[in-house]
Amino acid sequence: MTDPQEVILQVEPGGRLHGQCRVPGDKSISHRAIMLGALAEGETRITGFLEGEDCLATLKAFRAMGVEIDGPEKGQVHVRGVGLHGLKAPEGALDVGNSGTSMRLMAGLLSGQAFDSTLTGDASLTRRPMRRVTEPLARMGARIRTSDDGTPPLCIEGGALLQGIDYRMPIASAQVKSSLLLAGLYAQGQTCVTEPAPTRDHTERMLAGFGYRVQRHDGCVCLRRGGQLQGGVIDVPADISSAAFFLVGASIAPDCELRLEHVGMNPTRTGIIDILKLMGADIQVENPREVGGEPVADLLVRSAPLRGVRIPPELVPLAIDEFPALFVAAACAQGETVLTDAEELRVKESDRIQVMAEGLTTLGIRARPTPDGIVIEGGQFTGGTVDSHGDHRVAMSFAMAALRAQTPIRIRHCANVNTSFPGFVQLAGRMGLNIQQQEGGA
Ligand code: S3P
Repeated sequence: MTDPQEVILQVEPGGRLHGQCRVPGDKSISHRAIMLGALAEGETRITGFLEGEDCLATLKAFRAMGVEIDGPEKGQVHVRGVGLHGLKAPEGALDVGNSGTSMRLMAGLLSGQAFDSTLTGDASLTRRPMRRVTEPLARMGARIRTSDDGTPPLCIEGGALLQGIDYRMPIASAQVKSSLLLAGLYAQGQTCVTEPAPTRDHTERMLAGFGYRVQRHDGCVCLRRGGQLQGGVIDVPADISSAAFFLVGASIAPDCELRLEHVGMNPTRTGIIDILKLMGADIQVENPREVGGEPVADLLVRSAPLRGVRIPPELVPLAIDEFPALFVAAACAQGETVLTDAEELRVKESDRIQVMAEGLTTLGIRARPTPDGIVIEGGQFTGGTVDSHGDHRVAMSFAMAALRAQTPIRIRHCANVNTSFPGFVQLAGRMGLNIQQQEGGA
């Protein structure tokens, strides 16, 4: 039985990816542009904003706290900053849908406000762990209630007096780091966060870009309250996490040559390129440049025979969102690919180790999940019906698998593709994937 609301992707086997395109804007940077733009003095003009549901949830939450925001209109957003102390109490709970980034970053920021607030989300988000932020925030003096098992909703009491801490993160998480830094804008003394391995640093870069003093040394980021954010212009590059599906698709299918334009190349995000290159992929970085404090380049990818690899653990945080796509690459590679040190994948929008292993197995690939990773043996995709479990990145990864399948691949529960990649079906179709979207019950 299918739900009449269910979105199904039906992808015919074969095809090749060819031409050039620009995938939508970076999700992490788009969230932060709204948040910091709202807290800044003056106006912030954003271009290339990701009009996906996750970032729109952040935008709506700030509107609900009294921030005037125009757009989005073709990726342009205009935020009239209210300053660090200008947010107003929202009328009801702030529902951030599927977006873990909105919830975890806003938990920190809202801990420092004078008013009470509640953060909630959809079925997937309300199963995800929040103690990783609520515990260190409580140590700073924040008063946050969660469900008994540490999941949302988060009820945040206003008026708490925050005190800076020196926090060593037990896990490599940019969301935790960013949450504490945003709370640190309101805390007495200094807030320092040390990470066990480098994670995406968009928050630090954007704070500095807005004129806020942030100190960085040896994996540690520190700031003090008392500064001001100055609004400005933000050009959001294309999201390397969305480009990832095309990097994999054009590597595994025969006769492909695809240029992806204006892709964000922040070194804390480029693990996907390093891993694919280790596997033998043919990816060229063209025209590297810097746009508003973030490195950007065009990527030229051509078909290449891939080989299985042991994924170096230090690359895991630098490719954390790209593993569903990498697993599809591994399934098309010669030999075995082994991933370890990636238990974080079990608490993403779905349990990405389990869900990908099940789907790959359905499609005729030997995939053995392990507690902190997976072992995939390269083989031949048959075809069949897989379930994305509402996980956008799983859905788009299996869509690319069809390029090397023998029969059609049908992917269930795909509505959440819109959280990060609005227009995926159209763009992938234009580039050469034989893909169609169907509503359930059809
Ligand atoms: C994000 C950080 C990552 C990533 C998520 C976006 C961010 O999560 O998976 O999609 O924008 O800070 P973790 O920091 O929890 O690994």
